[in-house]
Amino acid sequence: MIFVTGGAGFIGANFVLRWLAQHAEPVVVIDKLTYAGNRENLAAVDGDPRFHFHCLDINDRQAVAALLARHRPRALVHFAAESHVDRSIHGPGEFVRTNINGTFELLEAARAYWSNASATERAAFRFLHVSTDEVYGTLDATDPAFTESTPYAPNSPYAASKAASDHLVRAYHHTYGLPTLTGNCSNNYGPFQFPEKLIPLMTLNALDGKSLPVYGDGRNVRDWLYVTDHCDALQCILAAGRPGETYNIGGRSEKRNIEVVQSICSLLDELRPKPSGRYAEQIEFVADRPGHDRRYAIDAGKIERELGWTPRETFETGLRRTVLWYLENADWVARVRDGRYHSWIETHYGNGRRGQEGVQ
Ligand code: NAD
Ligand code: DAU
Repeated sequence: MIFVTGGAGFIGANFVLRWLAQHAEPVVVIDKLTYAGNRENLAAVDGDPRFHFHCLDINDRQAVAALLARHRPRALVHFAAESHVDRSIHGPGEFVRTNINGTFELLEAARAYWSNASATERAAFRFLHVSTDEVYGTLDATDPAFTESTPYAPNSPYAASKAASDHLVRAYHHTYGLPTLTGNCSNNYGPFQFPEKLIPLMTLNALDGKSLPVYGDGRNVRDWLYVTDHCDALQCILAAGRPGETYNIGGRSEKRNIEVVQSICSLLDELRPKPSGRYAEQIEFVADRPGHDRRYAIDAGKIERELGWTPRETFETGLRRTVLWYLENADWVARVRDGRYHSWIETHYGNGRRGQEGVQ
């Protein structure tokens, strides 16, 4: 079986659902269920005997170690993190606690488990760390895309905390021989993304008739990748990646933020037209994000050449899927927005069960 941290979040949930649809192998999810963790994201696999959920902080080394000893996974995929740049600007402490200290505690638990495993288990074990392109800093318009050898230059507290976690993962391979792998991915979008991030925020604000707040001049560039393409890339790395290596993952799909917002507006004009006017009329340019990175671009040549991965979705097909998902899942959106998603476990399974081992 495999362990997945942060499996109730956006990418983690997509990864777990896809894994259980494609493989016979069980999954144990460890997730603290912070504001970004939504147990309902995994409702489709409730009752599946291959799925186990534990509401747990990755900082709790003893509890994680006990679970590793009990389930003896062959791999650990580490998504759990504080992930929103704007939140890291307002309150960096939790980013240090989870992304740096939490990754350290998890590495220590994994190292102890791996060190005491049999020779066969040691050879098979993989620690796959899910990281970001933001560790490389920012690019000018004509700079070449980030490669795996681009020097780290993180600019936000979020990026700095992820960079620190990447360095710890690297050191655990170099010093202790722990078979680690790291993926550095660009901006994801798709189903289950928390509506604080650009694409769901703009989609839902547009539908509510609210303003669409574009930071600065709207010309910042991000390289967009549909979430299941990221999940497939991680599966490739887990299956065939070389321990100790890092792999950049991206969609070769650079867009200015204003283009992304205009594309969302055009899709909504087509799929949910307003009685009068166009959604783009709601666009408003607002104060810039402090330290806002100008451009990210990923050179994904290494994973393409070595592991044969390429994205399946284009930005156009992926964005249409995403906007349709938010239109078709108004209940999910409503429960996230009014906070009912926090009480999903109690609502579905009765009081007092949250936090217990094995709670589905
Ligand atoms: P998310 O914020 O949607 O989900 C994070 C999950 O981690 C939540 O379920 C949360 O409850 C859980 N979590 C947070 N702190 C925890 C703790 N201390 N212990 C256990 N669980 C905890 O994030 P996401 O967008 O799904 O990102 C997942 C990972 O992918 C992160 O490591 C992020 O840095 C990385 N990443 C994200 C993107 C992106 O565009 N979203 C791109 C590249 C890399
Ligand atoms: O590049 C990978 C990273 O992508 C991940 O590591 C992060 O976890 C993920 O949150 C994302 O970071 P960004 O800061 O790029 O994503 P966000 O959706 O917050 O913003 C995307 C761009 O849109 C960015 O340039 C800021 C801008 N923006 C964002 C919001 C929320 C706006 O103009 N207005 C907004 O309201």
